[in-house]
Amino acid sequence: MTFILALKFLSNPATARRGNQIGAAGMLVAIVVTFLQNSVVSYWEIVVGMIVGGGFGAVAARRVRMTAMPQMVALFNGVGGGAAALISLAEFHNRAPDPGTLKTDISASIMLSAIIGSISFSGSMVAFAKLQELVRGRPIVFPLQQVVNGLLFAAILAAGISIAAGAEQQWLIWALVAGASLFGILFVLPIGGADMPVVISLLNAFTGLAAAATGFELKNNVLIVSGMLVGASGTLLTIMMGRAMNRSVANVLFGAFGRLAPSVGGSAAAAETDGQVRSASADDVAVMLAYANKVVFVPGYGMAVAQAQHDVRALADVLESRGVDVSYAIHPVAGRMPGHMNVLLAEAHVPYPQLKEMDEVNPEFSRTDVALVIGANDVVNPDARNNTSSPIYGMPILNVDQAQQVVVLKRSMNPGFAGIENPLFLNPKTVMLFGDAKDSIEQLAASVKQL
Ligand code: TAP
Repeated sequence: MTFILALKFLSNPATARRGNQIGAAGMLVAIVVTFLQNSVVSYWEIVVGMIVGGGFGAVAARRVRMTAMPQMVALFNGVGGGAAALISLAEFHNRAPDPGTLKTDISASIMLSAIIGSISFSGSMVAFAKLQELVRGRPIVFPLQQVVNGLLFAAILAAGISIAAGAEQQWLIWALVAGASLFGILFVLPIGGADMPVVISLLNAFTGLAAAATGFELKNNVLIVSGMLVGASGTLLTIMMGRAMNRSVANVLFGAFGRLAPSVGGSAAAAETDGQVRSASADDVAVMLAYANKVVFVPGYGMAVAQAQHDVRALADVLESRGVDVSYAIHPVAGRMPGHMNVLLAEAHVPYPQLKEMDEVNPEFSRTDVALVIGANDVVNPDARNNTSSPIYGMPILNVDQAQQVVVLKRSMNPGFAGIENPLFLNPKTVMLFGDAKDSIEQLAASVKQL
């Protein structure tokens, strides 16, 4: 019940913190109850493990930068899958000294958690390495890759089925774990670094399923329930992220997005541009903002990189004190992880009612005087709407080009995650304020105050 309540509370930024606390309290109860059972073999070993693991987790979570959160989630998720795989190895070792003695339900659970847990562990480590830029983020592809992956997966399944059918040699489970770990690596390598959040969410669902299978092995209901909840919510999140990018999960996993230099420009989008970039000073933009009735802030990945959220809030306060109506347009995949913008703006204590989801805010742009795009790029690219040859064609976007004026804060004309040009920047309505988003916002707030 606490886990279900936790998920419910986590779905709203106003209650998310409480959701986390409820989930943690539920897990504490589960651990204490497990400890009270007589079947615990060695308390001190568990306590040492908890101190080492808990200490590492607490320090890492305190120190991590907000932009490095996806790789930390990958790491934590991976060790969960690895733990499930290790438990399967131990259980198999303990329970099957002689072939043919294991019941099918137990051997099937062991095999499932070994396969899924190993894939999740090694896949998450590759995702971590890509996001941390320890390995190349671009898709790593080689000829016949899908065929090799397919054959390897078939071999893993064959080993698993023979274990479940009674072939309980120890080498088979080791081969299964090694094969599944290799598969996890080969499965994630061809996926581009920027698609890693979707992959991590999928691997997170895998870890949940591995934990649930471990629950069957250990006859532990809490593991079964929590594992299935993680599996289900991770699957839903994966599907929702794909939908927000208008890409199927299969396209994310097998499309090697970002491998080719995408085609630039397109007839429909070109019609709305005049090919010129207009750059403005902070003072010019400050005048636009200060004398506007309605301003919509559109944060993106650049705001996260610049850590500008507190300054953004301060600018909003200055504008509101002049009577300007300020709201924030939140795209579901702005930034690099689900809820990225919500978390950053919540950290800066932006009132929740001012955060508007895409469907709610899009009709408002035509009544907006200034759309202030703060380090967002792909999520405001009109090519997604207009240019059928664009790689992001069909992705729902924030229609900032319908505002009276658009101001874009970024450092250069470099593309965003999708690696494509953005005709919004060449639209006659748009002015660019070049520079680090934090510096630009600070300058804007200072200039508005002087008006
Ligand atoms: P992006 O399209 O990645 O654009 C970010 C922009 O921020 C860049 O063009 C960059 O331009 C600018 N920037 C970077 N650092 C900056 C700084 N310090 N100051 C000012 N500007 C800075 O971001 P977006 O619009 O938020 O879109 C997110 C993308 O990620 C989408 O394509 C989405 O599909 C993808 N994605 C998201 C998720 C989730 S769940 N959020 C998951 C997977 C993929 P300069 O370099 O010129 O400054």
